[in-house]
Amino acid sequence: MTQQNTPAKDKVILAYSGGLDTSVCIKWLQEKYNLDVIAVAGDLGQDHAGLEAIKAKALASGAVECLVVDMREAFADEYLTCAMAANALYENKYPLVSALSRPLIVKHLVDAAHTFGAKYIAHGCTGKGNDQVRFESSILMLDPDLEIIAPVRDWDLKSREEEMAWAEAHGIDVPTTMASPYSIDDNLWGRAIECGVLEDPWAEPPADIYTMTVDPTEAPDAPTYVDVAFEHGIPCALNGQPMSFLDIIYAMNDLAGSNGYGRLDMIENRLVGVKSRECYEVPGALALIEAHKALEDLCLERSVLHYKLGIEQTWAEQVYNGLWFSPLKEALDAFLADTQQCVTGTVKLKLYKGSCTVVGRTSDYSLYTYELATYSAEDEFDQKAAKGFIDLHALTCKVWAKNRLSMGAKMHQFKAVGSTADEFTAENSAVVEEAEAVIANAPVIA
Ligand code: ARG
Repeated sequence: MTQQNTPAKDKVILAYSGGLDTSVCIKWLQEKYNLDVIAVAGDLGQDHAGLEAIKAKALASGAVECLVVDMREAFADEYLTCAMAANALYENKYPLVSALSRPLIVKHLVDAAHTFGAKYIAHGCTGKGNDQVRFESSILMLDPDLEIIAPVRDWDLKSREEEMAWAEAHGIDVPTTMASPYSIDDNLWGRAIECGVLEDPWAEPPADIYTMTVDPTEAPDAPTYVDVAFEHGIPCALNGQPMSFLDIIYAMNDLAGSNGYGRLDMIENRLVGVKSRECYEVPGALALIEAHKALEDLCLERSVLHYKLGIEQTWAEQVYNGLWFSPLKEALDAFLADTQQCVTGTVKLKLYKGSCTVVGRTSDYSLYTYELATYSAEDEFDQKAAKGFIDLHALTCKVWAKNRLSMGAKMHQFKAVGSTADEFTAENSAVVEEAEAVIANAPVIA
């Protein structure tokens, strides 16, 4: 008997969450592109129905295969450790919850593409967010030959109702419960909440958006103290109890969240040019970054500490913008890793009704020197040396100030408008008078 040979279909690897969008993606990829869909779902510590349930749903929606991967440890140890070293906060606020997870997911997608010989990778992101950029930039950097499909960006399903109708007509389970009005992305490092009433930047976030943090007004009346120990910049123990970084993150989410700490409500600049209102719950991430910064204050030499601030901001922007695998980001990681060698010690945090305060720090590598800092009799700081130091420190500016005075200016802040010295003085006469009055009334300092 001769066998009928049907040509094998091309394969696509789909980043699968178990939600309606990516379930519809499975059927859509089959119908529109005639592809075999291999779903990949990762556990990054998000609130989910269980990896087996996610897998069953992918298969029921038509996937030929569904890989489920526990990515939590790798997320903590390979991604969040770098974020800690960078004290990573996009726009000085957002600890990059979603941005940090995408490159790890992509790594698994690309691996699966290689294992299964797939030509395509698909994701369920919309066309106006950051996540599409992160998925696609990361894919392009890990394997430039893979082709990308973005069904949600391409299909014509304009509303959730249309999507549900399409799903129903194609035999996909549609949620029976009322859909949440919010778009939520969560993992170990926190929760991002968007959409619904939050799209009005004037509207206070309703209480029901929060699940990781209690309302600060309902937090316990007594503070919680917690000692966070770090080794080479990575949290390694809580209250003297050695723990994995992963377990510390879980514990800090609980401790800080139950004290009402870790809520953010911000207007954020997306890479695609849109300002969006974003709410976050990031109790563990923010508390650990606070503690880490405090230890760095103690252990890093001043110039390194100051220079690092700029590196941190660039690092956060790179990661926010989907450039985790970029050469700049890798080079910055090398700098940051170098700075962490002596960031070993312990920080005491006080969590109380929505606040997290550093109240103590100690380290074998501490650069804090009591004899230099003290105003007591033990002072060893050479105060007399300060005069020469200041003379030279201010020398260039002193020369500059002399020049300005010879031009008729009397105070450094006067604007230089290319006028003659007389005009310059006249233009600034009001300020001159005011300044002279201040000087005349100033107390004489011996
Ligand atoms: N605005 C945040 C970011 O770009 C959160 C994104 C959340 N993603 C989502 N699909 N809801 O990182």
